[in-house]
Amino acid sequence: MIETPDEPVIRIKGLTKSFGAHQVLKGIDLDVGKGQVIAVIGPSGSGKTTLLRCINFLEEYDGGSIRIDGVEVGYRDGGSGRRRRSDKELASIRVDAAMVFQQFNLFPHLTAAQNVMLGLMKSRGKSKGEARQIAEKWLVRVGLSEKLDALPAQLSGGQQQRVGIARAVAIEPKVLLLDEITSALDPELVGEVLEVVQELAAEGRTMILVTHEMAFAREVADRVVFTDQGLIAIDAPPKVVFDEQSNERLRAFLSRFAAFRHAH
Ligand SMILES: Nc1ncnc2c1ncn2[C@@H]1O[C@H](COP(=O)(O)OP(=O)(O)OP(=O)(O)O)[C@@H](O)[C@H]1O
Ligand SMILES: [Mg+2]
Repeated sequence: MIETPDEPVIRIKGLTKSFGAHQVLKGIDLDVGKGQVIAVIGPSGSGKTTLLRCINFLEEYDGGSIRIDGVEVGYRDGGSGRRRRSDKELASIRVDAAMVFQQFNLFPHLTAAQNVMLGLMKSRGKSKGEARQIAEKWLVRVGLSEKLDALPAQLSGGQQQRVGIARAVAIEPKVLLLDEITSALDPELVGEVLEVVQELAAEGRTMILVTHEMAFAREVADRVVFTDQGLIAIDAPPKVVFDEQSNERLRAFLSRFAAFRHAH
């Protein structure tokens, strides 16, 4: 694991999580420094989504620790003496780690602006007027100035996902968690969404993105994390991960992506 010089925004140690008898996360260690972009790649079922869901406590974890800016996410005190936090505490910690989902998860009965405003009013205590201003600012940033009052059903997938990103980033979380946010999109809509992510990365926002877009991971990530069978098998700069392909299972995984198939 690469150590980061400053106290990391996210520090995960020995994270374990089972569903019934199936242990999905078997001891994950991961530090993410401020402004770092981590791309998580790995086979289906290796626990990528579960890892992200644990970070903002959509999923309760069994063992180990997740700290955001030094604060344990789901529990008071680590280890065996831990107690689940109150819903109020959880709500305030969740604001620190905003998630963008593969299936957008917008509220269908709310307009683009209202979808963005909701979190600002509920989690950040903004007035309706302030929330509207911030929502407009972000929707303009993601190229949706014409669509402020459109309902999700009136938007393309790429536009809906840009609303999803605006909603997440508008609350100014400490880290953005992006889970295969282009996987549900038609190929011609992928670029407009990745462009927004690229801009957010360039302005120094901390993010963990699960992606199958290997070329994008290579371009945007500071580190690529390869998850395999519930563990982090590799955590290294993109160049190292993609050029050296040092591990047999990584090679097998990458061989499914034409651009990374080894010539020999
Ligand atoms: N709520 C749940 N109940 C039971 N099993 C679950 C649940 N959520 C996930 N799992 C199982 O945990 C494992 C890891 O799932 P996860 O969704 O984290 O994988 P992933 O790496 O995100 O896969 P993909 O690339 O397909 O999205 C899988 O075997 C999955 O079936
Ligand atoms: Mg997943």
